[in-house]
Amino acid sequence: MTLGPQKLLRAGFMRVEAVFNRAFGDKLNPFYHLGALSFYLFWLIAGTGLYLYVFFDTSVDGAYRSVELLTHKQWYAGGVIRSVHRYASDAMVVTMFIHLARYWAFDRLRGFRAFSWITGVVLLWLVFAAGANGYMLPWDRLAQFVTQASFEWLDSLPGLGGTLVRNFMYDHSVSDRLFSLLVFVHIGLPLATLLFMWVHVQRVPKASTQPPLPIAISVAVMLVLLALVQPVLSQGGPAQLAVAPTGLSLDWFLLALYPLVYAWQTVAVWALVLGLSMLLTIAPWLPPRRRGDIAGHQLTMHPGAVAVAARSGETLLEAGLRAELALPYECRAGGCGVCVCTVLNGRVDHGNYQPAVLTDAMRAAGQTLMCCATALEDVELEVDVAALKGSDATATQRYRGIVERVERLAEDVLRLSIVLDAGERLDFVAGQYINILLDDGATRAYSFANPPHENAAIELHVRRVPDGRFTTYAFEKLRAGDTIEFSGPFGRFTLRDSARPILFVAGATGFAPIKSIVEDAFA
Ligand code: HEM
Ligand code: FES
Repeated sequence: MTLGPQKLLRAGFMRVEAVFNRAFGDKLNPFYHLGALSFYLFWLIAGTGLYLYVFFDTSVDGAYRSVELLTHKQWYAGGVIRSVHRYASDAMVVTMFIHLARYWAFDRLRGFRAFSWITGVVLLWLVFAAGANGYMLPWDRLAQFVTQASFEWLDSLPGLGGTLVRNFMYDHSVSDRLFSLLVFVHIGLPLATLLFMWVHVQRVPKASTQPPLPIAISVAVMLVLLALVQPVLSQGGPAQLAVAPTGLSLDWFLLALYPLVYAWQTVAVWALVLGLSMLLTIAPWLPPRRRGDIAGHQLTMHPGAVAVAARSGETLLEAGLRAELALPYECRAGGCGVCVCTVLNGRVDHGNYQPAVLTDAMRAAGQTLMCCATALEDVELEVDVAALKGSDATATQRYRGIVERVERLAEDVLRLSIVLDAGERLDFVAGQYINILLDDGATRAYSFANPPHENAAIELHVRRVPDGRFTTYAFEKLRAGDTIEFSGPFGRFTLRDSARPILFVAGATGFAPIKSIVEDAFA
């Protein structure tokens, strides 16, 4: 159960993500890489910041001058890098907020995820503080405004009582000490941010912290182009503390709250900021709570019948990855379909996914997406072996068969009999299937319709799918004597001992594995 605005935002994300999937493909959809993009932007900011620091003069007289020299005398390097540093910081605020909004919209902030959420709230503070602090360094009129407003705001805290302004912000008190303080903070805050970014992903199994290369390159190119078209410049000349700065243009990504420091009472600004932070911090425990269980469930993952304990709210994929299983996945957001599996026993909540990758027919056939689905009770599921990563995928055997007979069982159903070379026989368990390999490496799964003890020939039932590549070929061209390549056998949809009666219900070619199972059971 989720709130109205949450649902609305979620629907919005699903729509926009579908558009991006069509435009860029699911692998390069930036919405599936928001956390990784924030990491990447952090590294861009750190790298460009290091360059700027080499040329930055940490003194009252030198700060403004050094930044001006950097911006104008070497505009092609220092100037561009200054702009990229600034724009990457703005971009990080954007990716961070969309990342936050996405997790909230999909209600993925409760239970074990509260850890990432709360460390995320700390990251919000750190990123904003580091950004505002960065604006103080060029010591132009904007720096003067940001420093004065920040110190006045901080000085309103009990205990400080004007210390910051008194010690640093009068003409006679501005000294190189101020710049030592600012630079110290500007190195300390990013380091703390990095530490918290690391902590933030500790409980996310196999968290990706690097966006795909094409996204990384495109973002870098866009930032450089922006830097060339709209270079960042200092505003209004060097700071003059005796004269109030006017006519400044603010960076609304990082400094949106600053006008409030003068428009409102400082205490009201504190109330707003602390109130919002508190609200975000307790968000994982706010209603509407998820219905039902808190306990989590047992998953049995085939092949291998590996037992995995899923935490409450944990997706099948997360639970499997946490148990170090080499499961297939890409987007982790219901957009690519790579993580599809078949639920053999138990109920799952399918979660939120793009309808194009998990169709109603697939759901009806018991399939679900591991990255979206959560267990509603103990669940047994099977992952497509051919999609498994690493050695598991190559361990499956390939065969070459010869079509012995092609018979029409109905208008749209063929029975194929396939024999292996040199009278070889294929061992399998009733209910399993083979993957027929097409020229381009694509596969089509067909269940054995014959029982294992009658394995001189493999019997497959092929139903005509309009415009289906393999089925059109089978109906129109396939003849006795043709060869077919396939791999297998796969599958755990097999009969298990049970004290209870078993009722089989099957339709169309879904009857094939049932025929095999029943003929085997009564053999
Ligand atoms: C410096 C800013 C941040 C960075 C670099 C960052 C990075 C990441 C990364 C790499 C992940 C792993 C999975 C993914 O990409 O979705 C992640 C997960 C997550 N982040 Fe962030 N994040 C940041 C800020 C935030 C903020 C502000 C919030 C919310 C307050 C937040 C909430 C979460 C949550 C709830 C998860 C999911 C954990 C899960 O699914 O188990 N993050 N973050
Ligand atoms: S990993 Fe892409 S849909 Fe699950």
